[in-house]
Amino acid sequence: MQAFLKGASVQATKPQKDKAAAGPSTEKKAKPLPWVEKYRPKCVDEVAFQEEVVAVLKKSLQGADLPNLLFYGPPGTGKTSTILAAARELFGPELYRQRVLELNASDERGIQVVREKVKNFAQLTVAGTRTDGKPCPPFKIIILDEADSMTSAAQAALRRTMEKESRTTRFCLICNYVSRIIEPLTSRCSKFRFKPLANQVQEERLLEICEKENLKYSKEGIAALVQVSEGDLRKAITFLQSAARLNVDKEVTESAVVEIAGVVPDKMIDNLLQICLKGTFEKLEVAVRNMVDEGYAATQILCQLHESIIAHDLSDKQKSAITEKMAVVDKCLADGADEYLQMLSLCSLIMQQAALNN
Ligand SMILES: Nc1ncnc2c1ncn2[C@@H]1O[C@H](COP(=O)(O)OP(=O)(O)OP(=O)(O)O)[C@@H](O)[C@H]1O
Ligand SMILES: [Mg+2]
Repeated sequence: MQAFLKGASVQATKPQKDKAAAGPSTEKKAKPLPWVEKYRPKCVDEVAFQEEVVAVLKKSLQGADLPNLLFYGPPGTGKTSTILAAARELFGPELYRQRVLELNASDERGIQVVREKVKNFAQLTVAGTRTDGKPCPPFKIIILDEADSMTSAAQAALRRTMEKESRTTRFCLICNYVSRIIEPLTSRCSKFRFKPLANQVQEERLLEICEKENLKYSKEGIAALVQVSEGDLRKAITFLQSAARLNVDKEVTESAVVEIAGVVPDKMIDNLLQICLKGTFEKLEVAVRNMVDEGYAATQILCQLHESIIAHDLSDKQKSAITEKMAVVDKCLADGADEYLQMLSLCSLIMQQAALNN
């Protein structure tokens, strides 16, 4: 334990040296990188807004031991970044390859792979020192990213491996939906929930990137980015990069963001709703056709209509009938149903419900 503490302090000073050494080559590679990668946190301290996780993780890192981990939460909140940064801090860049096995949904992770690849890697013994004699933690980490896409059989196969190899291996499972991880696995891990990022934190990050990339921006532009990304920082950064590309002089404006995010203008949604409430079926048909023809995604229209309906002055009974239909339409759209017909059927139902008022 003592030895590892020393190891941690060695690590802490290390990155600077590496940075200086690797300077020119990373500089060269940095250009074509998407900004989400370029601005991915390099150490756990750079992970924003997930204070509890970071605090617990840092304590574990210092204490030389790490429990098996389960990270869960919505997309773009820092799960993958956090474990990658923690592993980098633990092992340093040279040992990283030997000590960390990263498997995500794009890799084959059926039961066979769990039995062979994961087991073989887990069974390798590790030393508590590096080749250069410096101390390092005496375990390896297996990261199973997007673990909710693993079959239950593959998850079940992990149970024994996790226990048997606990002397030399720590597992980190990452997923969006914790309910899709089988109970025997969740009970073997310390669980951490990643929250959607607060608006202000997102704004700070975006402004930081704007500064580093020399972008011009309007306050409304940044506010719009934060609003459309709903706590998903990856989405916000991706939209920021697209918006910067859209304008020649790299200005991030509200209209550019709205355009990229595919948000339907509020006026259009209001208009559609007014037709549903007071108009004729003929007008409704034209309005729906126009919207779909203009390329607005039906799921986006649905989402915005949902917000308007909730805020609108309708009876509880009407609202519940409409939202129930919305859930059905959403499922149909996910299954690939025709967008125009689905929107028309939803709007027709709103029309029928509104007619009850008259
Ligand atoms: N908490 C955070 N602090 C700093 N940057 C973040 C944070 N969350 C997300 N990011 C940014 O978003 C990008 C994506 O984050 P990351 O890959 O860690 O998300 P994730 O939680 O693993 O999402 P998914 O569930 O989709 O895999 C990072 O490269 C980083 O730029
Ligand atoms: Mg991830």
